[in-house]
Amino acid sequence: MKLLIKNGKIITSNKIFNSDILSNNGRIIQIEKNILPKNVDKIIDASGKLIFPGGIDPHVHMHLPTPAGYSSDDFYTGSKAALFGGTTTLIDFVTPNKGQSLCDALKKRKKEAANSLIDYSFHVSPIEWRDSLKKEIKKCIKKGITSFKVYMAYKNTIGLDDKDIYKVMKIVGKYGGIVTMHCELGDEIEKLRNAFAKENKLSPEYHYLSRPAKLEALAVKKAIKLAKKAKCPLYIVHVSSKKSLKYIKKAQARGQTVFAETCPQYLTLDQSKYTGDFYKVAPYIMSPPLRKHKDNKALWKAISKGVIKTVGTDHCPFTLQQKEAGIEDFRKIPNGAGGIEHRLALLYTYGVLEGKISLQQFVNASSTNAAKIFGLYPKKGEIAIGSDADLVVWDPNKENKISAHNHHQNCDTNIYEGISTKGAPEFVIVNGEIAIYNGKMLKKNKGKFLRRK
Ligand code: URP
Ligand code: ZN
Ligand code: ZN
Repeated sequence: MKLLIKNGKIITSNKIFNSDILSNNGRIIQIEKNILPKNVDKIIDASGKLIFPGGIDPHVHMHLPTPAGYSSDDFYTGSKAALFGGTTTLIDFVTPNKGQSLCDALKKRKKEAANSLIDYSFHVSPIEWRDSLKKEIKKCIKKGITSFKVYMAYKNTIGLDDKDIYKVMKIVGKYGGIVTMHCELGDEIEKLRNAFAKENKLSPEYHYLSRPAKLEALAVKKAIKLAKKAKCPLYIVHVSSKKSLKYIKKAQARGQTVFAETCPQYLTLDQSKYTGDFYKVAPYIMSPPLRKHKDNKALWKAISKGVIKTVGTDHCPFTLQQKEAGIEDFRKIPNGAGGIEHRLALLYTYGVLEGKISLQQFVNASSTNAAKIFGLYPKKGEIAIGSDADLVVWDPNKENKISAHNHHQNCDTNIYEGISTKGAPEFVIVNGEIAIYNGKMLKKNKGKFLRRK
């Protein structure tokens, strides 16, 4: 399939220029003005439109098992929602069962992801220490997995204690990988949760009250210290608070390899969502919880200063019925919310159009930086000859009001309900073919597992 996109304004991580783009068999083969439409199968006129590299969401949880059931998007429905919003690559997780080897869990997870409509990879999670982890991690790296996720929270299920985190970091660092980390101090949070429960404080707002910003910041501080000692690059997922940024900035200033990610919910929503009855509050139960307006502001600034490199979504929706598992006890509400479809539009509307970040920072945060950090660059995250033809033709004037009534994720609520956005994909091109045009799905691509470097 030969596709010619004419007259668009191309935005890459470091350039803005007007040009045509020609792709053949899924790859970009020419970027020049006035390319002649010779032997092409399809021409798109992108006059007045912006062209971005397809979005890369480095943090999603499709089909995540929890005691309240699987997160409500599987790889098919979740990747479909991603596509409608301009995201063409996702990185999910492999979370083994106790005793299961990382490679066996990876094999099983690949099967679950086989119906994804976009290309995908995984961060693999060691959830317990065993001596064979060294071999298992090495094997995963050989299979194209370069990032390993550890949780400081969720201590009684998948969280690791500090000495095991350190051991994992030593191995990952030695073999050239990167550790990604959920930073919240698990033991302290558990104490607060149980103290609230003892006083019969079980309604959903106690979720956020038991997970204060300070416990995230102290976990960030600890993770940075462990990574420094272990000589391992560190990527801190879903940074939600201004307090955490202080430690990240300090580490970066002294030259330590510490990357930070935030999510649209921590940029655009705040803890005022935690007032009201169960059904109003439950959709916003996520970890870390929403913070204050001053945190939103600090996070935007951190993107603009390059302190935060990526914006993932932590896409992990649950239906209201699933959230009801915790109607009597906030500790049983499944944690997480969806957002994969809205990441680009929210970043564009509330970041670029409000002057908080530039167009280039938008492209870096939504695509290029994730590709660079996670070993996908320049195949993904770039508009260049040889790169995959995963592209978004962006209509800067198209308006939308986000709602559970018109979104594509498989969930009956939307944490951005009623929020207006300006700017939306007119075309989403995957593998050189038009997957989405004007809010309609034209082609279902078969996503591929990406071996990373
Ligand atoms: O609440 C959240 N974030 N759920 C998904 C799992 C995680 O901690 O990232
Ligand atoms: Zn997390
Ligand atoms: Zn997550």
